[in-house]
Amino acid sequence: MLNSNLCNLLNSKTRILGVIGHPIAHSLSPIMHNSIIFKNKVNKLNSDAISKNIDTIEKLKEFKYLKSNLIDNLNYVYLAFDILPENLENMVYSAKILNIRGLNVTVPHKIDIMQYLDEIDEDAKKIGAVNTISFENGTSKGYNTDGLGFRKAIEELIETNNLNNSNEVKNKKILVLGAGGASRSICYEMSKDNFVTITNRTLEKAIALEKYLKSIGHKNVNSVKLDEFNDITNLLDYDIIVNTTSLGMHPNIDETVLNLSNLPENSLVGKFVVDIIYNPFETKFLKQASEKGAIIQNGLSMLVHQGAISFEIWTGIKPDVEIMKSSLLTKLNDKE
Ligand SMILES: NC(=O)c1ccc[n+]([C@@H]2O[C@H](COP(=O)([O-])OP(=O)(O)OC[C@H]3O[C@@H](n4cnc5c(N)ncnc54)[C@H](OP(=O)(O)O)[C@@H]3O)[C@@H](O)[C@H]2O)c1
Repeated sequence: MLNSNLCNLLNSKTRILGVIGHPIAHSLSPIMHNSIIFKNKVNKLNSDAISKNIDTIEKLKEFKYLKSNLIDNLNYVYLAFDILPENLENMVYSAKILNIRGLNVTVPHKIDIMQYLDEIDEDAKKIGAVNTISFENGTSKGYNTDGLGFRKAIEELIETNNLNNSNEVKNKKILVLGAGGASRSICYEMSKDNFVTITNRTLEKAIALEKYLKSIGHKNVNSVKLDEFNDITNLLDYDIIVNTTSLGMHPNIDETVLNLSNLPENSLVGKFVVDIIYNPFETKFLKQASEKGAIIQNGLSMLVHQGAISFEIWTGIKPDVEIMKSSLLTKLNDKE
């Protein structure tokens, strides 16, 4: 009964979270964040109602009291806003007036939004893009959680596979395929304490990223031509191989940035191969890597972890990433 009575879960103190982009209708962020905001509440409300066996006015009063406390604890709702580029400045102004608590920022606004924010976190400044805004006391502050989300996803992968006593990702040789926006955040974060090689169809972009990272003190970065991997066994020099290109993404699921099927059998045993694409769940690149023995991961983990870090910035609460992930899996399975 309470499940359907969602109006109980929002009140005059509810704060707004959201995502801005253009277009935005495809965004999975509302599902992921609302799964945290609402799932705990609804479950708790239902179990409270059942366990309290509400049959008297007194019990009803007590239940209502508990319920209002519960709602005020995580009193948010997460929405999606389609914002045209020419409205970005007004959007920041309006968000302050509306007392919005936080926003995620997606394509095409991650760079342009920066000029309208009052403050930018050091990492986001160095990455040169913002994917999270926090509004507090009339001030806006931009963050970038993509790179750290990627790191957390790799740590989770190591932990799940019980490969080490520690899940720390440090001093690894990492090959990053692609030099676009996502690659920039990942290379920035991972080159803090790993050896990162960047390769890209347009070599100049990989070189520019390498030079930039070196200029801010990340020394362990280099870039190589994609042709280098015409001899596919050159891949075997790396501990972690990451596809950050859009090749293989739905609907072009037969594309792959490198053909791993020519590698010797079992040659990727002990290696991590990650594709930050999550639609499809398993790209051709990941399928081939798995056939050669690699431990693979798709882009859902990165998506969830970058979202979880944003959620913690806004609410101070570390969300349960498994709830977030399962809400996305349900949604993506529905679509397929
Ligand atoms: N899981 C997550 O949380 C997450 C987060 C962000 C992005 N992503 C995914 O990551 C992918 C890239 O996003 P992005 O924002 O970085 O895009 P982007 O800035 O447009 O970069 C695209 C990259 O793909 C390469 N590429 C595109 N077409 C290619 C082709 N035909 N052959 C070889 N390389 C090609 C580009 O190479 P050139 O430089 O030569 O054009 C560039 O390196 C997308 O699939 C996106 O959905 C996932």
